[in-house]
Amino acid sequence: MTNRSDKKKEGKIIQKLKQYQKKDFSFSSGHILGSMCSQPHPIAKKTYIQFLETNIGDPGLFPGTKEIEQKFLSFILNFLKAPKTASGHIVSGGTEGNISSMWIAKQLTDKKEIILPESAHFSFKKIASLMDMKLKSIPLTPKHTMDVSQIKQNISDDTAAIIGIAGTTDVGAIDPIPEISEICTDEHVFFHVDAAFGGFIIPFLNQLGYDLPTIDFSLPGINSISLDAHKMGYAAIPLGTLVLKDESWLQEISVNSQCISTKKQAGILGTRPGAPVAAGYAVTEFLQNKGYQRLMQNIMQITEYTIQKITNLGLELVTKPTLNVITVKVNHLDEIINTLAQYGWKVNKIDHLSSFRIVIMPQITKPIIDEFIPVLKKTCKEVGEL
Ligand SMILES: Cc1ncc(COP(=O)(O)O)c(C=O)c1O
Repeated sequence: MTNRSDKKKEGKIIQKLKQYQKKDFSFSSGHILGSMCSQPHPIAKKTYIQFLETNIGDPGLFPGTKEIEQKFLSFILNFLKAPKTASGHIVSGGTEGNISSMWIAKQLTDKKEIILPESAHFSFKKIASLMDMKLKSIPLTPKHTMDVSQIKQNISDDTAAIIGIAGTTDVGAIDPIPEISEICTDEHVFFHVDAAFGGFIIPFLNQLGYDLPTIDFSLPGINSISLDAHKMGYAAIPLGTLVLKDESWLQEISVNSQCISTKKQAGILGTRPGAPVAAGYAVTEFLQNKGYQRLMQNIMQITEYTIQKITNLGLELVTKPTLNVITVKVNHLDEIINTLAQYGWKVNKIDHLSSFRIVIMPQITKPIIDEFIPVLKKTCKEVGEL
């Protein structure tokens, strides 16, 4: 029980925090347009707090939360068509998913080179530095996908893994995952799919009949897939998953552990929050497969609508979007980004493409786009872009 002075103290602290929070942009306002994270689904918000004290790094203390984790992973394994031998490992996000996968590839092969597209996320630079690995970049096609014709000639005796991206950070492009899978099968090379962004949208769009590359374990060459529920999964930060085709590979990144309820602990982190896992599971239970299908279809419709509105203004896109990522090419990049921010809108800057990125996340509606477009037009006129 708190006494009156504690209550007063608490109130003051909360007020103080609110002052700081006022400086933040918020997903709920709809004005964050460039991030790959989203406002969590309402049920995620409700359930997160309920599991605040849980730790999936010490599952003996939280067997109930552990069961939730298994159920959440089953949902993912199912839509990724994972074989019976497969297993999922909860990670904090795409960076940890990629690091963990490359840790496994290095352990399994005792090799150090990673072949990856030029579009790969910067987390691979961390991998190279952390694990003393070498990155061999493959150029992109005009569609911003990995040029598969260049892969074979880059495979060497020291190739540990090949990376394909399902939903690139810059433009949301999908690498030709089936072709890369074939090469990896032929050449016996470990194949990791970085589906941090696309993992929770591409499978559902494909179920609906969209003509996108397959990115799941029905492709025999894929060894691991990393996908983030805190991106297109409509869940709360931090929640990513690394799915391994063979559960035994987790042993490669496990150490003996003392003073906790398990003899061995897998992965990079020790203490890990159960709250985002419980909240993520709640979202999957609420939406189910059909709900994700509907959500993704709606997102793609709003994406089409936004593309129309932007191109009608006379602006050009870097490439025709495959997913819900719209990358707009401009001459006055800094001025546009800064002016939009002054008007209360945040888009993401992609310097090397002289462009800004808009991502249609679940909280972005047509009325939000209708509110944004006149501001974008005014901004572009003010800075001399239009
Ligand atoms: C393709 C891709 N991989 C990995 C990541 C890293 O994810 P996180 O920031 O959750 O670690 C991102 C982030 O945007 C991404 O787009």
